[in-house]
Amino acid sequence: MKNVLVIGAGTMGHGIAEVCAIAGYNVTIVDIKDEFLEKAVKKIGWSLKKLESKKKIKENAEDVLKRIKTTTNLEEAAKEADFVIEAVIEDTDVKKDIFKRLDENCKEGVIFSTNTSTIPITDISSATRRPESVIGLHFFNPPTLIKLVEIIRGERTSDETVEKTKEFAKTIGMDYVLVEKDVPGFLVNRINLRVFTEAIRMVEEGFKPEEIDSAVKYRLGLPMGILEVVDFSGVDIVFYVTHEMMKRGVNVKPSKLVEEMIKEGRLGMKSGRGFYEHKGVYHRVKI
Ligand code: NAI
Repeated sequence: MKNVLVIGAGTMGHGIAEVCAIAGYNVTIVDIKDEFLEKAVKKIGWSLKKLESKKKIKENAEDVLKRIKTTTNLEEAAKEADFVIEAVIEDTDVKKDIFKRLDENCKEGVIFSTNTSTIPITDISSATRRPESVIGLHFFNPPTLIKLVEIIRGERTSDETVEKTKEFAKTIGMDYVLVEKDVPGFLVNRINLRVFTEAIRMVEEGFKPEEIDSAVKYRLGLPMGILEVVDFSGVDIVFYVTHEMMKRGVNVKPSKLVEEMIKEGRLGMKSGRGFYEHKGVYHRVKI
């Protein structure tokens, strides 16, 4: 396997592409607009320079960056792919449309993985004529720092696809947990979402984000505050994940505050404002 296709150049897609390029793969990133792709390449370049200065990568940032190309033409990019990682918005219809187009354009034997947080792999795989090749490969934000993926087996995923995906995860330096049950939220998000929504509810009740985050960092020993993680992941992602989980009968309540924040454009780090203010390409909150 040489060519990795990453679909979606957002919060996750650009980080996943970076990790794959660092591991030596040729990476093509697809998105719907050139400006999204340009932003992604800028962020990857910034991050690679930082990793280079800390001696966390073996090559020059420029040499790694040379292995990444971008396009808005999914059909053309699909023809060259050996391994696909889909990381577009958390919307079943959008993801299914992409998998259908992949099915029509990719060669035989290509693995179709999805970074979905909640949508059943079996559901996504039904858009293709090769559900045995479809699998969940769920990264955590940021993929350059969190060296864990969940590998999720859909009802029709073949053993061969699972084994090849495990191998692939190892080649990009990831440990994995294999999730054999294709349940909403898989393993980590079943827990995460409840933690996120509880913290957001506390803000609605009048607690300050700094109070909640200081408490969990210093009393519970979490590496980041909960609302800091929400800002980092995207307030809109919490909205999508909550609604996808609700559609699948999971007992979780949507938050009015999340909806208001989305209307105001307070999406977290990606828009410069969420529960906290953010400056620059990346900005960690100091609490
Ligand atoms: P995002 O909103 O930052 O990026 C999504 C990207 O997909 C955007 O650039 C958008 O233009 C692009 N896109 C939308 N429709 C497309 C199409 N038809 N073809 C190509 N590109 C298209 O979202 P984010 O946060 O990167 O999430 C992506 C996926 O990863 C979602 O399924 C999400 O649930 C999952 N995820 C998100 C995490 C996070 O912390 N944000 C963590 C783990 C998984």
